[in-house]
Amino acid sequence: PASVPLDLENIQGDILSGLPKKTQFYIFFDVTDTKKFREDLNKFIPLIKTVEGVLKDRDAIKDHKKKKLPGLVHIVGVNIAFSHKGFVKLGIDDTTLGGVEDPFVIGQKQDAITNLGDPKKADGNPDWDSHFLQEIHGVILISGESHGSIRKTKYEIEHIFGVHSPHASIKEIVTLQGDVRPGDESGHEHFGFLDGISNPVVNGFDTVINPGPKTVDPGVVVTGHTGDITQRADWATDGSFLVFRYLFQHVPEFNDFLKKNPIAKDGDGKVLTPEEGSDLLGARMVGRWKSGAPIDITPFKDDPALGTDPKRNNDFAFAGEISSQLRCPFAAHVRKTNPRDDLEVPPPPTPPIAIEGRRIMRRGVQFGPEVTREEAHTAKTQHGRGLLFACYQTSIVNGFQFLQQSWANNEKFPPFTGRPEAPGLDPLIGQGDRAMSGLDPLNEQTVIGMPAFIIPRGGEYFFSPSLKGLKSTIAS
Ligand code: HEM
Repeated sequence: PASVPLDLENIQGDILSGLPKKTQFYIFFDVTDTKKFREDLNKFIPLIKTVEGVLKDRDAIKDHKKKKLPGLVHIVGVNIAFSHKGFVKLGIDDTTLGGVEDPFVIGQKQDAITNLGDPKKADGNPDWDSHFLQEIHGVILISGESHGSIRKTKYEIEHIFGVHSPHASIKEIVTLQGDVRPGDESGHEHFGFLDGISNPVVNGFDTVINPGPKTVDPGVVVTGHTGDITQRADWATDGSFLVFRYLFQHVPEFNDFLKKNPIAKDGDGKVLTPEEGSDLLGARMVGRWKSGAPIDITPFKDDPALGTDPKRNNDFAFAGEISSQLRCPFAAHVRKTNPRDDLEVPPPPTPPIAIEGRRIMRRGVQFGPEVTREEAHTAKTQHGRGLLFACYQTSIVNGFQFLQQSWANNEKFPPFTGRPEAPGLDPLIGQGDRAMSGLDPLNEQTVIGMPAFIIPRGGEYFFSPSLKGLKSTIAS
């Protein structure tokens, strides 16, 4: 598609700017009365927060902080997205969103078995929470600064669709609540690592460009723009595919693994204390220290100031390390999911799709309580916790599905030219027999196996349409 400016009032807010959140609901629903739903949607659309709306909210938050006002600014962000089954139910022709074999069309339940490698049950279904084994037509996102405000908005929305009345147009299948972790852990996922650092910087949208990976065309994230590889129907432009994954994390077990397998010496041969050795092991699994500092920049010692400095914390590319795991293991989570220069440097043949076309915009949020004393003591999870993983892209095939199937689950990725040892699986999200090389910097060939610390328990593929698309085609 030709280059047209992004219409920030037409694009749903979570896609490009991320709905500001302390807390968030994901309401998964079925449409039970098609005609009424399409009418009710007209009352719902005004609640939707666009990118423009999020930018205004951000200014309000900044202003509030600058004036040192007490409390938090009252902010609520609502978005909506539909599955392929949802569009079928509504009688909407979504053929320009994907052909018969597209993951969006086959749905994530089938994809989990065929391509993602999720564990299966005897009946052939993925081993998922039962809610995600049913047909899901759509999801409503509500984010906000407090439980009170998202709950109030949820009532409002339930009222619009007549939930709790004899004339409901939707049925709630399940509502999941995500919460940013408390205090200093805010922004850190449940294993303790700072998250949300490296997201694609979008041409024509982002105004601040910090040193890091190349910027991406808007069409990698927003349909109908330069970089979107598919011709879309008018109503299907200015949207994005939302991949949702319900991922549980076994935190006490993860911590126990680090404790039991400390790295003895760092890459300079310095003997480490058990605690230092465990911290280094965790950092080498992720590719960053808990502070966010990339091990490619600071391989053997954490540097918290670097971790939170946006001018420096994404400025690395595994440059000159195509045949070395000394600084960062090939299979470290961030090297697997964004291999940077590993794919730029010859001799591997130039990939058919540039790495920029495989970037995803991550928008997840944590769920579940902090680890209890008893869980820490017994090294056994008793309370469900993890990540409500969400990401946006214009091609699930080139984005999320490819990262999971062809990178995370592939022990031979990234290219390990000149090395005898294969990288192994992504230690966090890889599906299969999880084992990886490169964890011990002085013994790069040593392969260490590990149990699954992240367990997929559900998910679906959705499309988050533009405001115009919602008004012109989906509502009636
Ligand atoms: C980066 C944790 C699931 C793709 C990261 C980072 C952490 C992390 C700590 C580094 C911070 C950053 O660069 O922003 C987790 C956890 C997960 C999870 C705990 C599950 C519970 C996934 C999944 C995918 C994924 C399912 C996609 C298949 C990425 C990508 C990056 C990233 C693309 C950025 C890499 C870069 O640009 O350097 N993740 N992740 N993650 N993760 Fe995950």
